[in-house]
Amino acid sequence: MATAAHPPVAVTAPAARGTCPFAPPPAYEQARGEEGLSRVRLWDGTSCWMVTRHADIRSVLRDRSFSSDARRPGFPFLSAGLRTLATDRPTFIRMDDPDHARLRRMLTADFMIRKVAEMRPAVRQVTDDLLDRMAARTDRTADLVADFALPLPSVVICLLLGVPYADHAFFQQCSSTMLRTAAPAQEVSAAQDELRDYLAGLARAKRAAPDDGIISRLAEQGILDDDEIASMGRLLLVAGHETTANMTALSVLALLREPAQAERLHEAARLDEDGDGSALDTAVEELLRYMTVVHNGIGRVAVEDVEVSGTRIRAGEGVLCMVGAANRDEDAFPDGGLLDLGRPGARRHLAFGFGVHQCLGQPLARLELRVALPAVLQRFPGLRLAVPFEELRFRHEMAVYGLHALPLAW
Ligand code: HEM
Repeated sequence: MATAAHPPVAVTAPAARGTCPFAPPPAYEQARGEEGLSRVRLWDGTSCWMVTRHADIRSVLRDRSFSSDARRPGFPFLSAGLRTLATDRPTFIRMDDPDHARLRRMLTADFMIRKVAEMRPAVRQVTDDLLDRMAARTDRTADLVADFALPLPSVVICLLLGVPYADHAFFQQCSSTMLRTAAPAQEVSAAQDELRDYLAGLARAKRAAPDDGIISRLAEQGILDDDEIASMGRLLLVAGHETTANMTALSVLALLREPAQAERLHEAARLDEDGDGSALDTAVEELLRYMTVVHNGIGRVAVEDVEVSGTRIRAGEGVLCMVGAANRDEDAFPDGGLLDLGRPGARRHLAFGFGVHQCLGQPLARLELRVALPAVLQRFPGLRLAVPFEELRFRHEMAVYGLHALPLAW
């Protein structure tokens, strides 16, 4: 890699967060203020480009000069474990077109807005059941993560895929190993293999006894083999519950700390019940922007020489798109450091990525957040933290940011 003309390395990634646990690392924010693109050093001594501005990230993520194929030399990883996750039996999130498009197309109908809307009664039912169980606790305390935020999207994605929720302890353990930044590569590989074997076994079983889940449909179609179906299932299972779960817990925490914003969510939910969902849509988008749980950056590698914002990136050089920093870019979101549930243009956030790989599950994530957040606040009006804020454990070391636990009382 030619480095002579490169600016000096400015930051090490992943960088530490500052005092506000919702804000991206100050080092990324600073880089956004100073440079369009800067150099960042990675764990293995290599360096890559870091992109932090909203407009620059949009231009990288829509440009076919950048590849999502993590097996290409130069692709940036934040740890050995995350390299294994991305390169060992890759799924379509780490492929380029035409393979990416061919595989994604097999699922587009499942995640279309209209199709996902049909799941609303089921999402509502699961939400109510989980909250009933919480409300029945005589000590009037709960861990929102374990008791609500994680099971809700987990049950829903299981229903969609046709995975028995009874096995959740197993697949959540695999998922948590796979997403732990510091997990040794062998552990990540073993967790991926276990999950692959489990899902391939399910695909086989569904050929004999089909149901109306996605895995069964893929198995019956006969286009993909069991390993390919397992890869697809693994991506959906992991992406489908960790992200929304952490968004839910972080959002509830932020709303407990900002009662005026919680009141706006209540009002938005009231309007939604009267048939005007636009304020609730905006509130959810603003929370997605503010939290940006995919916090370690979206990786790409240049396949040809390309210029971004006046900086020349050479073929084979890696790029990390720090969407958390871009989602606080003042040019795109004035006063971006403030949570404003009525923010105009909140939907322009990059929390779901951008371009051809933009999150396939976003309609489902939005539906779950729209149902879950007002439901929690309405059900427990006196909800408060059960431990001092300083004792909360945030998921700094995980690929999906959030909270390990959120002890609450009412
Ligand atoms: C708040 C919740 C969520 C967030 C913040 C989120 C974030 C993201 C991001 C940033 C990407 C782009 C990655 C890249 O460009 O390399 C992505 C892709 C993806 N997400 Fe999500 N996601 C969420 C929920 C979900 C759910 C619920 C599902 C599935 C049920 C899902 C399935 C996927 C899939 C399959 C892709 C790959 C798309 C492709 O490569 O074409 N996500 N997500």
